[in-house]
Amino acid sequence: MRSNILKEIKNRKSPAVFKTKDVEKKKLDAVIEAARWAPSCFNNQAWNYVFVHKKDKTRKSLEKSLTPGNGWARKAPYIAAVGADPKKDCKTNGLPYYAYDAGLSVMNLSIEAEHQGLSVHQMAGFSEKKVRKAIGFSKDHRVIVVFALGYDSDPKSVWDKLSSRIKDRIVQPRQRKPVDDNFFFGKFEA
Ligand SMILES: Cc1cc2nc3c(=O)[nH]c(=O)nc-3n(C[C@H](O)[C@H](O)[C@H](O)COP(=O)(O)O)c2cc1C
Repeated sequence: MRSNILKEIKNRKSPAVFKTKDVEKKKLDAVIEAARWAPSCFNNQAWNYVFVHKKDKTRKSLEKSLTPGNGWARKAPYIAAVGADPKKDCKTNGLPYYAYDAGLSVMNLSIEAEHQGLSVHQMAGFSEKKVRKAIGFSKDHRVIVVFALGYDSDPKSVWDKLSSRIKDRIVQPRQRKPVDDNFFFGKFEA
């Protein structure tokens, strides 16, 4: 780590193994509050979150909307889908700010989750059609991301049950590109 940064940003990670332990209502409220306070284009807040608890009737069908590689998410107490209606956010610069704004909101939620001792693992691996059907988003909604929310678990406790793909991922240290690849001062240089 190059500089001292907030511990919630430094320590946040996307766990591949969740505990089945439930999320306390107070903590769920806190992560939702953090998501609410994200900035958005014209303060449109076009995002819609649907949190699905493992006991909810819609849970099985939401789980089935995930790609097989995201089967690890089934253990988490909550799986949430984030959608937005593109018509309800800025169209400036021809850019999809509904998706950008939803991402900012999910990041706020993720940092607060870390602060609360929880973890978030986002997923793009899902069938949009199946997510819509499972949780009731209309065709006007684009499903931007699905995420698992819960407590991170020590993978060693379930090591033998993990797929080799997940094991490989766990043993890899978290990495980022060198800073010079992405950050410039004064002028961009490809
Ligand atoms: C938009 C988005 C989609 C992602 N989709 C998946 C996914 O479908 N399955 C998965 O296991 N991880 C997924 N991830 C997690 C990334 O692989 C992870 O954030 C990245 O490898 C960096 O690891 P870290 O979050 O632990 O820092 C996704 C993350 C984001 C932000």
